Amino acid sequence: MDIEALIKKYDEQGYVLIPEVFCDVPSFIDLLGEGAEPFFEQDQSTLRSLYGFHNNSQFTAWIEKQRLLCEITQRILGEHVYLHQTKVNIKNQQESSVWPFHRDFPFWKVFDYFPENCFLNAVVYLDDVHEGSGELEVIPGSHREFLDREANEVTDYSLEGSASSDLLFSFSEEEKSYFQQKYGLEKTTGPKGSLLLFDPNLIHGSGVSCLDFSRKIMILTFNACSNLPSGDSPRPAYLCNTDRTPIAWKN
Ligand code: SIN
Ligand code: MN
Repeated sequence: MDIEALIKKYDEQGYVLIPEVFCDVPSFIDLLGEGAEPFFEQDQSTLRSLYGFHNNSQFTAWIEKQRLLCEITQRILGEHVYLHQTKVNIKNQQESSVWPFHRDFPFWKVFDYFPENCFLNAVVYLDDVHEGSGELEVIPGSHREFLDREANEVTDYSLEGSASSDLLFSFSEEEKSYFQQKYGLEKTTGPKGSLLLFDPNLIHGSGVSCLDFSRKIMILTFNACSNLPSGDSPRPAYLCNTDRTPIAWKN
């Protein structure tokens, strides 16, 4: 694998998709329990996301063996890393299953007090992701352009606004069209075991699926260990992990 070419694409486009990298991925069932926090669709019963399994023993045993993630995080973030956030997102047919177009870094800047975007999102596909399954869509290159209004956005923290279809920091249809016309829109479809890397300032979102309990993707957000917040986040540890012990990668 040409890591240099991948990193170049990541820098320029804000994302890179590497199909079928992992031959073994954690099982979703194994991630349930051990402190993981479920989020539900608007009906309050259909599972939408599972957050905060960074201490799950099956998950930690898996991640410590992932040399490719070790190499990529080292190349992109340049030092030891820990997991700021872990989650699996599931897609369902109902309207509340959407993720409006947004960037991720504003959440961590405004609510968790991180001044710098020294973060990296690594998305591991736990299922095949095909067109119509609520595939994540990205606006290539949007990680480098910001609207004036984004600099002054002040908003109150809410758990609901951090993980639901009623998402804070999202873009209006008009704003999305502006970016889409300028940069295009890409679908990140790929088989189970694929890896998508994306910059937390990249604009991304997703629609509903034609099936319930489909398109499970595991989003791992790495932060550089030296990137410290300037205050204490009001958010729970499953949204903002305060244990910054570096990942102990195995050789
Ligand atoms: C996210 O933006 O955190 C999730 C998007 C998705 O699961 O489609
Ligand atoms: Mn996001």
